[in-house]
Amino acid sequence: MQKLFLIGILSLLIFSCKQNNVSQKAQQQLVSDTAMVVSANAIASKIGVDILKQGGNAVDAMVATNFALSVVYPRAGNIGGGGFMIIRTPEGEVTAVDYRETAPLKAHKDLYLDENGNVIDGLSRNGGLAVGVPGTVAGLYAAWQKYGQLKDWSKLVMPAVELAQKGFAVSESESFRLNKYKEDFLKWNPDNKTFIRERWLKGDILKQPALAKTLKLIAEKGPKAFYEGPVAQAIVDKVTKSGGIIRLEDLKKYQAKFRKPIIVPYKNYEVISMPPPSSGGVALGQLLKIVSQYPIKQWGFHSYKTTHLMVEAEKRVYADRAKYLGDSDFYPVPLDTLLDDEYLKHRMTDFDPAKATPSNHIFAGKFELHKESFETTHISVVDKNRMAVSCTTTLNSNYGSKVIVDGYGFFLNNEMDDFSAKPGVPNQFGLIGAEANAIAPQKRMLSSMTPTIVTKDGKLFMVLGTPGGSTIITSVFQTILNVVDFDMNMYNAVQAKRFHHQFLPDYIMYEKKTFDKDVMDSLKQAGHKLKQVKYMGIVKAILVKDGKLEGAGDSRNKDDDVEGY
Ligand code: GLY
Repeated sequence: MQKLFLIGILSLLIFSCKQNNVSQKAQQQLVSDTAMVVSANAIASKIGVDILKQGGNAVDAMVATNFALSVVYPRAGNIGGGGFMIIRTPEGEVTAVDYRETAPLKAHKDLYLDENGNVIDGLSRNGGLAVGVPGTVAGLYAAWQKYGQLKDWSKLVMPAVELAQKGFAVSESESFRLNKYKEDFLKWNPDNKTFIRERWLKGDILKQPALAKTLKLIAEKGPKAFYEGPVAQAIVDKVTKSGGIIRLEDLKKYQAKFRKPIIVPYKNYEVISMPPPSSGGVALGQLLKIVSQYPIKQWGFHSYKTTHLMVEAEKRVYADRAKYLGDSDFYPVPLDTLLDDEYLKHRMTDFDPAKATPSNHIFAGKFELHKESFETTHISVVDKNRMAVSCTTTLNSNYGSKVIVDGYGFFLNNEMDDFSAKPGVPNQFGLIGAEANAIAPQKRMLSSMTPTIVTKDGKLFMVLGTPGGSTIITSVFQTILNVVDFDMNMYNAVQAKRFHHQFLPDYIMYEKKTFDKDVMDSLKQAGHKLKQVKYMGIVKAILVKDGKLEGAGDSRNKDDDVEGY
């Protein structure tokens, strides 16, 4: 009897392994010689590495990993959202790919205001009106067309099709979120039971046949299958049914854009990051340029002096972000001035080493953060020729607008919340904006996503990025300083505790055990307010050191995974 029971258990185990023939065990650090992928999920990282082993380059691997994440990481991996990537070729050519969502043609400045001019709470965050025109499929295709090595596009999408068909075992963190958002899924998709269970448990198999169908169409026909025809019609139908304004013309008009990255020198390094419509590269560049004027290495990691300086720099940089940053195709973002050394020196003239400058002395405003979590995801890839891709992609909130396209099985973003609905009124990340980030048809909403590549002496040095909403920029900033100034290896630099100030609200967010007691006391004495948060940023990074690749996922997400060979 006991024997029979054991045989039963064994067969069950073999069956479930067969269903998920790719191992899902995550590893968060690895040193390898040749090539590497770091992503938020082991299955996705392994699919990327498989592509590299088949002769694909970093762009091919990034595309395959992205599509896999749309299946196994549905809260942020996506085909219904958008993103940004920085690509560096083995020859040193650098490009930024912008596949950020756009505002629909019918959108206007006051889209989320009531008749009294007040913001209608939640309208830009939930349901059809929150959805921007998705860019992911166009962006991945454009990057592959220009830089991919493998000639067969479908090879990059088919692993995701198979995964969606066969299903995969959900991780603990995915099951937690699927349970958490059950009511929202039902509210917007009463007839869709794909993501609905009485209660999801770690190891439950999630199959997505409708998504498999959509991905197969994309594999066979490329982006046309998404932006025209039945998928486009289904997007429009569902968005309309959910109160939104996306039309077929919006989808047909969507185009990914190649842009010139922001390149900023930092000591003997060069930092290459995302230009507008992301604020990431500009803000990161401003922060690095400001701190380069001070001896932070000598002051020490997480010391009072270093922390106070970084926080005061962050206040000023996020104040600039609120006022001057937006889609540069619509608004004359003063990039040169914002990154000008003299301007930045001037910006710090009221910096007092002993005292916090209240944010309302920098710019006025008062509000609290919304409690939505910061979901986005990042992929870092380096291939055997040292081509590198740093790619950050998102639906904005967890599972975006929670609206699923009927019959095609994918979530639509709620990226419209990243516009400034009204000057001075904060979005879900507590970020405020002004005219520069006002809504306009076909405009791209301001982002904080900061996919970044760092070079040293003209050679690839680091590839990094992270989710985290407004904390993305400061997480990338701190990780770079940890390696360059505080001599950490990649893994320690990623795990190190983080803090963040975004000008408003006027407090330092910090993770538990970031500061020693005397540093906390000194910060308070200087007038800083502090607020402990659970975590910020989930950095995925690769460091090139002594001819080897040091990869690091972030223990803040147990599923983060580094694969390489
Ligand atoms: N949706 C978050 C960002 O783009 O910054």
